[in-house]
Amino acid sequence: MLPQWLIEKKRDGQALTPDEIRGFIAGFTTGTIPDYQMAALAMAIFFRGMTADETAALTEAMMRSGDVVDTSALTAPKIDKHSTGGIGDKVSLVLAPLVACCGIAVPMISGRGLGITGGTLDKLEAIPGYRTDLGTREFLDVVARCGCSIIGQTDRLAPADKKLYALRDVTGTVPSIPLITASIMSKKLAAGLDGLVLDVKCGRGAFMKERTAATALAQSLVRVGRTMGKKISAVLTAMDQPLGRTAGNALEIVETCEALQGRGPADLMEVTLKLGSKMLQLAGLAHSCQSAHALLAEQLHSGAAWRKWLEMVRLQGGDGAALEDTTRLPRARLIEPLPAPQSGCVAQADAELIGRACLMLGAGRTKTTDTVDHAVGVSHLVKIGEQIERGQPLALLHANDADQLTEARALMQTAFRITQENVDAPALILEELM
Ligand code: URA
Repeated sequence: MLPQWLIEKKRDGQALTPDEIRGFIAGFTTGTIPDYQMAALAMAIFFRGMTADETAALTEAMMRSGDVVDTSALTAPKIDKHSTGGIGDKVSLVLAPLVACCGIAVPMISGRGLGITGGTLDKLEAIPGYRTDLGTREFLDVVARCGCSIIGQTDRLAPADKKLYALRDVTGTVPSIPLITASIMSKKLAAGLDGLVLDVKCGRGAFMKERTAATALAQSLVRVGRTMGKKISAVLTAMDQPLGRTAGNALEIVETCEALQGRGPADLMEVTLKLGSKMLQLAGLAHSCQSAHALLAEQLHSGAAWRKWLEMVRLQGGDGAALEDTTRLPRARLIEPLPAPQSGCVAQADAELIGRACLMLGAGRTKTTDTVDHAVGVSHLVKIGEQIERGQPLALLHANDADQLTEARALMQTAFRITQENVDAPALILEELM
């Protein structure tokens, strides 16, 4: 079949066969099918969608476009978690060492931040010396020694996704559920997992702003994972306000350290414990949410999770002393409070606007080639439902440039709404897909 015939077939709303999808992705990966034909197929998929079988075939073809890590030497159940991304989302950093203490192997391949959502790798790189670029052998060695490792996607893992994502980014074809599903699952499953827990974020600071779209994405991810023989569960969580009280790379490392010593903010811990208990249940290490919670709480309070975090960071070249004394982490030159304009109850702390303010301060990137400033961001964020007095800080802004600080301050002033009525803290866990 010529590539143009497959494009026409999808354009006309017909389903492609697994062989046709495999051939197309193989040709695109090696370069015999040019970018313009792949872009045309992506647009046809955007408009026509894909069946569950087509999405699974696309995921498998993209996963097999490079290496699939052979994790058979690891005897522990290999379970990972993936989040669709949000503001202040440092859950992976707390979760990987926490569940590793309970006997799960976590070979975690994470991404960098793009746009307003932060990336786990950027946060880890705020720790002096931490290496996110381990080769496969070293990656597996760290997992074998301490139970978890967090690295970046190498050129050999799902290269078709890397190429296709860049193309989708410039052809208006990112927000397509089959394409997002194949992109996420091909990368994650290339790490040789037995199971995966998905945190699909929904709300102002998320990729999926509407509940129906977030549910549809979660269902698609679960369906494809199961078709590929993996144990999968998914949780829909709210992302209308940032998770925790910090957003920005080094600031989130500080909050991670506090969480791993049992002093994490309530919302961060609620999501972490929910996802962790799902991981333990997928691994067969706990039979109920309550027993999983108890096991995880014990690791936090005994200091085991904290020691595991230090061990993983040190095995990856990071400076453990900077975690024990976080004043050694990158620190911004200018730290300024954002005073509340009136007394009352916090009714809104808009994650999207706070994310944009962090981007203005230099905490994230607007294009993949930008460098991030690890020191900047926001801390001491107030949460929806909290009472505040006029003049008390809604947040602290951390900046290295006075002009960026001025711009970020103006944006942050629009992110909060304070009312005279009491407002309840909103629900965080919106839905669980078993
Ligand atoms: N994250 C990914 O990895 N891929 C997508 O397509 C969207 C979000």
